[in-house]
Amino acid sequence: MGRMEHTQLIDAVNIRTAIRSYDADPIDDDVARQLDMTLDPINLISGLDIQLVRDQPKVFAAANESGHLKNAANYLAIVGPKDDDEARERAGFYAERVVLTATLRGLGTLWVGGSWDREEAARHCRIARDQELYLAVVIGYPEHHLERLQRGYDELVEYQRTHRPTKTYEQFTAGMSDEERAAAPEWFRAGVEAAMKAPSAMNRQPVVFSYNPADGTAAARIDPAAGDEHCAANDLGIAKLHFQIGAGQGQWAWGDGGLFLHK
Ligand SMILES: Cc1cc2nc3c(=O)[nH]c(=O)nc-3n(C[C@H](O)[C@H](O)[C@H](O)COP(=O)(O)O)c2cc1C
Repeated sequence: MGRMEHTQLIDAVNIRTAIRSYDADPIDDDVARQLDMTLDPINLISGLDIQLVRDQPKVFAAANESGHLKNAANYLAIVGPKDDDEARERAGFYAERVVLTATLRGLGTLWVGGSWDREEAARHCRIARDQELYLAVVIGYPEHHLERLQRGYDELVEYQRTHRPTKTYEQFTAGMSDEERAAAPEWFRAGVEAAMKAPSAMNRQPVVFSYNPADGTAAARIDPAAGDEHCAANDLGIAKLHFQIGAGQGQWAWGDGGLFLHK
């Protein structure tokens, strides 16, 4: 089965992994234009100002030198309103949407909260006085990307499924009994399974889901015990996007405890 048949966001969910080693190939103007075309409408509806910054390896100099990263040089600067937890949640949701689009184009990505020089990164983007630079997403061609393209979709799915530990489905639905889990609709299970594949800071997977049979809604909550204070709102947004893609159709209300209406 060729890669070209896989163009849906759920396919990206199923093959995306954090990429820490990149080829030295720059992101050329054509690809940059395509990414900007993805960013423009997202910035318009999200109230964020996500910017593609190319060829600034100094931002990742320490991580590239230590060997934690290789050839990291381009990034999405996630800029949004200051002191606004809901905007940080939207940042997770919408920047992950860009991550998944980039994945379908054969690009690799890595969310970074620690492995970058934030001050250096801020020098290369626009940040208004009422805005701040939340986080970045490294973007570029994964190491050996030409050989990688030859690999089948199924192989990439298998790598995604096994490359890191994950909390179990039961942990992701910790507030539910086995009976409640068995009675929940298929779209709920598919949503949670997509959220299990989502990136989160230090792989803490801080979000817990539940299904309410009384009104047919799902809820997403941050588990304070996960110890993800710094990135919890961002990771909530990422997890909600993955859930929504897995569930197929529907929409979230923003916020910790926000509800999902399936359509
Ligand atoms: C908000 C956020 C910040 C992150 N910061 C870093 C970082 O500074 N350095 C790093 O190597 N990985 C970072 N990661 C990547 C996570 O470690 C990674 O997503 C997680 O281990 C799950 O692995 P996966 O993305 O391959 O599914 C970050 C992820 C998120 C969502």
